[in-house]
Amino acid sequence: MRYFLSRLWCSTLNVLNGHERFNKQNDIVDHLPTLSFECNAVAPKLIVELGTRGGVSTQTLISCAKSHHAAMVSVDIDDCSQVSDYPNWTFVHSDDIPFAKQFPEWCRLRSLEPQIDFLFIDTSHLYEHTVAEIAAWFPHLSPRCRVAFHDTNLSNIYRMRNGRRVAGQPNARGVIRAIEEYFHIHINEHRAAILYKDGWRISHDPLCSGMTVLERFPSAP
Ligand SMILES: C[S@@+](CC[C@H](N)C(=O)[O-])C[C@H]1O[C@@H](n2cnc3c(N)ncnc32)[C@H](O)[C@@H]1O
Repeated sequence: MRYFLSRLWCSTLNVLNGHERFNKQNDIVDHLPTLSFECNAVAPKLIVELGTRGGVSTQTLISCAKSHHAAMVSVDIDDCSQVSDYPNWTFVHSDDIPFAKQFPEWCRLRSLEPQIDFLFIDTSHLYEHTVAEIAAWFPHLSPRCRVAFHDTNLSNIYRMRNGRRVAGQPNARGVIRAIEEYFHIHINEHRAAILYKDGWRISHDPLCSGMTVLERFPSAP
């Protein structure tokens, strides 16, 4: 009952405020500056995006790719091939788990080094799938890489950076739980945090369904 009332309250607010653009379709918008900063910071040669949909994150990452003359690959089970015509961007219409196995050979055929400098994961948000994505894609990361996960703080109501509350998805700890188990840590997904573990920086932003960024520091010689 409380859940339905809170959703009704949020939907009403969204309509009254005329902010339809801030619905679930666009809950990535508050994270685009972070995505851009973190991606540019690694001066990427290869960017991989898992989960493209309408291409909101794709456009931001393509801007980074352009700045660094990097190649970019986006993967989605739906056909999202129309979201950009940037020549160094390739769309792969596939489930991201089987494609991860083909990735080294796929890169070799295109004269690309199969080392990902920036990986963005924004797909099903399901626990088992996120565990599988980490297992399948992390072996392809470059030594000095960054990885961003969206939807690490899913809840019935999410809060945007401007304080506005918006109806979200039912609470599920799928993505954050997969990250926690990989690092053997606990993250309170409702609070901002920075942790350091096993040569990684783990930065968590709870707003707008949550964004968690990992930065790997290459081990000292
Ligand atoms: C939240 S949307 C991505 C939003 C996008 N990053 C943006 O900024 O607009 C999730 C996308 O993941 C895709 N997806 C879900 N499961 C997938 C899988 N196993 N492999 C590849 N893509 C998947 C869906 O088709 C959907 O387009």
